[in-house]
Amino acid sequence: MKNKFKIISLFLLLPLLSNAQKKYVVETKTVNVQIPKTLWGLFFEDINRGADGGIYGELIKNRSFDFPKPMTGWDTWPNGKIREGIFLINNNLLETNNPKYLNVDITMKDTVGLINFGYEEGISYKKGLPYKFTIRYRQNSANLHLRILLINRDNKPIMSKGIILPSKADEWTTFETNITPIDSSTAGKFLILFEGEGKISIDRISLFPSDVYKNRDNGLRNDLVQKIAELKPGFLRFPGGCIVEGNQLVNRYQWKTTIGPLEKRKLVQSIWADDVKNRLTPDYMESMGLGFYEYFQLCEDLKTEPMPILNAGMSCQFDEKEIVPIEQITPFVDDALDLIEFANGSVTSKWGKTRSELGHPAPFNLTYLGVGNENWGPQYAERLEIFTKAIKNKYPYIKIVNATGYSRNIPVFSYMDSVLRARKADIIDEHFYDTPEWFMKNANRYDTYDKKGPKIFVGEYAAQTTKIGSPDNKNTLKAALSEACFMTGLERNADVVSMASYAPLFGHITGWQWTPNLIWFDNSKSYNTPNYYVQQMFSTNSGTHLAKITSNNSSITGIDSLWASAVVDKSNKTLIIKVVNMNSSETDFNISSDIRLGENIKIYSLSGEANKENSFDDSKNIKPIFSESKANLTKLKPYSLTVLKFEII
Ligand code: AHR
Repeated sequence: MKNKFKIISLFLLLPLLSNAQKKYVVETKTVNVQIPKTLWGLFFEDINRGADGGIYGELIKNRSFDFPKPMTGWDTWPNGKIREGIFLINNNLLETNNPKYLNVDITMKDTVGLINFGYEEGISYKKGLPYKFTIRYRQNSANLHLRILLINRDNKPIMSKGIILPSKADEWTTFETNITPIDSSTAGKFLILFEGEGKISIDRISLFPSDVYKNRDNGLRNDLVQKIAELKPGFLRFPGGCIVEGNQLVNRYQWKTTIGPLEKRKLVQSIWADDVKNRLTPDYMESMGLGFYEYFQLCEDLKTEPMPILNAGMSCQFDEKEIVPIEQITPFVDDALDLIEFANGSVTSKWGKTRSELGHPAPFNLTYLGVGNENWGPQYAERLEIFTKAIKNKYPYIKIVNATGYSRNIPVFSYMDSVLRARKADIIDEHFYDTPEWFMKNANRYDTYDKKGPKIFVGEYAAQTTKIGSPDNKNTLKAALSEACFMTGLERNADVVSMASYAPLFGHITGWQWTPNLIWFDNSKSYNTPNYYVQQMFSTNSGTHLAKITSNNSSITGIDSLWASAVVDKSNKTLIIKVVNMNSSETDFNISSDIRLGENIKIYSLSGEANKENSFDDSKNIKPIFSESKANLTKLKPYSLTVLKFEII
């Protein structure tokens, strides 16, 4: 009876929008679901040189000589003419986090040097921009002088600076100075010369541009932070991804060795060094220069919820599958408890004090914590239970993100899903890397989920145009639109889906192991993919409350090759409709609504050729175009995502 009334009242409202072809019905009064502020977030992992060689501002690769092959990234100067014994790597086995350093020993007056090639294509220099050079050294005489040179792509110096280190230094000492190139260059190098006679030990040679985000020491690349900021993420998942697990436990991510002075941070080999056989990157190490303090600080800057994911006592289950015996799991659980204390504890607590000493007395307000990345099976379930009890016991307010392996409706997933539902878990993390067709077909996946059960975090997803993990996958418009189709389904089910993030976020144009990615970059610039714009169109139009958009009472998940969802933004009285047109031709779209709408429509449309991508040469090939209309009938462009914004009057 109630339903009948609803239909009649909508019918009566139709004349308000004088158009004969009203086909799609929007109801705003019948749903009372708030859109979670966390719905559209980001997944950050140091994959594809996302951190070292990417957003982390350091320009020198292997600055501390701690790579497994300590001269990786370096060459001596002049090439081939160095006398035996001048450069010697020392390995201090008593120092576990930062064991190696370089001794330079010049017994007869000479000039020798070290050249660093930076990451991938080489160092980018900007004319007139100061670069901060830092050296950590120890010396027992002050007879050696230094000279640093910025070298351009033609092997010509674009600035040189002589340095007289202040004095003899028995203890490790840090010296800093700025150097400003007189010209710009990509594919540059950095040269440090040692002039005279004497001995010096070096533990870090570092170079940062001064235009890093917020001009911070040890800062992040500004253009890449801006790209993230412009997505207005509701949360930031970190540090992964598979690097959480590591290919072996020894290479897992351990947050405690990523904070504090750089020389205390422990470099580990990335799982991405050799995990992708056709994209080997043997020099892929994680310096941890972008560690957990920098991460929390970034979340605060971006006003986004932090979501750390921690190791569950298991290495990557696609890889070596090592597990920590259950009786030895306590240090792993303690890591989780200590991280919460580091983020939220009072300055009198052990880890709260550490945070305060690092410069942040105020808490970082952590409420989400993941245990395990893509873990599954009874061993994971057993370990997860121990973590959960300990975390909930001490911090009942923390919402735990629980893994389900690599998702879909396969036994691995179903097992974890049923375990987690029986345990009334807070949040279940599902991952999808699949074909564009799969994403289109599965826009209704969450329609049947138990809305009173655990919340869903679609923690990783991306349409794969060729095959999962294939180096031929492309960021085409069609792939992006298929994700948009799926996302209308996430939005329609915002009462159970509370978070979602595309993955991976970054891909270095030559240094990648995985494709597709949301943002492609090289050492000086970056561009947005169509997938980026899809994410942005959803996240910047998230609304405050769900509305309902239907055709003949069915949700629009492929009807007429259209996919749609609707929200209301009560804060600025707007009805927002997102509609994906997968037709190869223009398609009419018109709505009737149970509320009175203004006649002006703001329209943002992302469209183009289905198989086209953006690129450095054509970075704006596919991007949203804004227009305004008074017409009742919207023409949806072929292959498009359109956001329609109506004023509610
Ligand atoms: O996003 C790339 C990888 O895909 C992640 O590291 C992992 O969690 C998933 O398998």
